[in-house]
Amino acid sequence: MAQTTRIAVTPGDGIGPEVVAEAVRCLEILRTRHNLALEWSRFPWPSHAWHEEHGECWPQDALEQLKAYDAILLGALGDPGPIHDTDRYLLPDSLSLAPLLDMRKGFDQWVCERPARLLPGARQYLRDDRAKDIDMLVIRENSEGEYVSQGGRLRQGTPDEVATQMEVFTRRATERIIRYGFEQARKRAGERVQDGRTRSFQTLDGTTCESQVCLITKRNALRYWGDMYTEVFEDISQEYPDVATHHELVDAACMKFVSCPWAFDVVVASNLQGDILTDLAAVISGGMGVAPSCNLNPTNPDLPSMFEPTHGSAPDIAGQGIADPTAMLFTTARMLEWLGRKDPLLSQAGQELFDAVAAELAAKGKEQRSTREIGDAICKRLGA
Ligand code: IPM
Ligand code: MN
Repeated sequence: MAQTTRIAVTPGDGIGPEVVAEAVRCLEILRTRHNLALEWSRFPWPSHAWHEEHGECWPQDALEQLKAYDAILLGALGDPGPIHDTDRYLLPDSLSLAPLLDMRKGFDQWVCERPARLLPGARQYLRDDRAKDIDMLVIRENSEGEYVSQGGRLRQGTPDEVATQMEVFTRRATERIIRYGFEQARKRAGERVQDGRTRSFQTLDGTTCESQVCLITKRNALRYWGDMYTEVFEDISQEYPDVATHHELVDAACMKFVSCPWAFDVVVASNLQGDILTDLAAVISGGMGVAPSCNLNPTNPDLPSMFEPTHGSAPDIAGQGIADPTAMLFTTARMLEWLGRKDPLLSQAGQELFDAVAAELAAKGKEQRSTREIGDAICKRLGA
């Protein structure tokens, strides 16, 4: 039997614990049915509740504790809701969400993968029926760029105040994220060929490729990192003649994500531009209720990667048992698939979970159901 894989489950705030409960139920069924060497521990932090009791979002040694795990399954952080409760214990976002950024940084989770595929049964926000072909993977640089948190406020509160917020782009991080994008494009092409659902993308010289990487910058205004990204992209693309290349300015990309999102395959973007684009990508592929997200460290297997849906704590519906657990379950499926690098049985379980969630979405995605009802139906599909 493979070495035991250990998951740190951190439900967090708001609807986090509600959707995580369904993920844990699915994990339990998969573990029993396939005799998986899988364990998890639940942490009451990071969360508002922990802060209320201890005066901090998580213990001082939180990262050290989490380091012992193979993955972190995070529900959501932020306003715990419900919003009508005006006396609720509420922290500023910069405080309650800091652990998320600390985990990304502390464990060098330099890739944020956000797949956007409009699956049958998911809400189709775009009227054009070609939307059914939306199938892209947005790869967000997750370690630097606009998120380095360097800067400060000078003469704070005075009319002469100066606020600075630095952006830092290194060649090393640029190279690794772009190379990762090309690798994923190749991998997706291989999977599509296997599944008999090939796509074709034109390169500038007229040849046709099975996959594409689109680089996003704002190089017409932010030229220093934009030019470096462009050069690195051109260099690395030479090693991938089988992958078509493309570039979009971020503003034009927003427009095209709405007008022709089916034309994209793999998209590589900076930290902030990727953040913004992935909310848009989530909506055109069914909404926040179905959008998974993975924060990965592909280079150091000793550091945990972190898996959280993009939807956040949703204080407007928290506590009512009506949050859609679909995004959380798709995220859990991707986590299992990722963990399959060490134990192939986990990757099979991930595929099984994905298939069950997708089948349930196709069958009943349009119905209004409670968190528990959706969870029950998926557990049943898993053979509970
Ligand atoms: C996300 C979120 C976070 C981010 C926030 C909560 C700091 O929007 O995961 O996309 O900007 O990365
Ligand atoms: Mn975001």
